[in-house]
Amino acid sequence: MELRDAILTRRSYTNYLDKKVDLQLIGEILNLAIYAPSAGNMQNWNIVIVDDDDKRKQIAQACLKQMWMYQAPVHIVILNKKPDIQRMFGKKGETYGIQNCAALAQNILLLATDAGLASCWVGSFDKDAINGIVGAPSTQEPEIIITLGYSKDKPVSTRYKLERVCCFNQCGITRKDFGFFPLEKHKIKMEEMLKKESKSLVEKIKSLFKKDNE
Ligand SMILES: Cc1cc2nc3c(=O)[nH]c(=O)nc-3n(C[C@H](O)[C@H](O)[C@H](O)COP(=O)(O)O)c2cc1C
Repeated sequence: MELRDAILTRRSYTNYLDKKVDLQLIGEILNLAIYAPSAGNMQNWNIVIVDDDDKRKQIAQACLKQMWMYQAPVHIVILNKKPDIQRMFGKKGETYGIQNCAALAQNILLLATDAGLASCWVGSFDKDAINGIVGAPSTQEPEIIITLGYSKDKPVSTRYKLERVCCFNQCGITRKDFGFFPLEKHKIKMEEMLKKESKSLVEKIKSLFKKDNE
């Protein structure tokens, strides 16, 4: 799958099929995901893969009772090893530590999409409860939980137009000529492809009729 397709098709899934995920696949995803950037290359994450039935139920409970999570056969708990990053960066380490974990999480989501898996980023949870469930020391803090599995849903979510969330050189300064943005280019390419495709279809149909009349 092309990167742009993974970005465009990734969605947050809250419905999962009763189908296991091969742990080998999870390993492959994580082995790539850890190439995420991190401040000072500190890689201050500890990743806990949870496939245990009882623990997933407890995690769903600790995520403010988001019981749909229990359906997902795998939970990935991303823990932030806070002392490591704070020793290196002091106060700024607090922000960096979370940002590093977020970069890792986004990699996991995109790689999961590429592998045909459904996923969801979960951020609402009781941190102490999650630490207790996965047996993490108090120096580590859960930042993100990702559910993984298979789904037959196609969740929909929309985005603000780029013009609303982007400006030039200074906040509030916008430009009308947004055509150079990659997504716009992609859209134009798709439209051109569709036009070409429908032309060749018309030709094909015409030639079929020709053959019938001969
Ligand atoms: C920091 C963060 C926390 C989130 N927490 C939850 C959550 O607790 N439960 C949930 O169902 N979705 C959660 N989401 C998913 C968002 O609701 C979702 O990304 C958003 O609605 C856009 O939909 P999409 O991901 O399908 O494009 C979270 C996403 C982020 C980035």
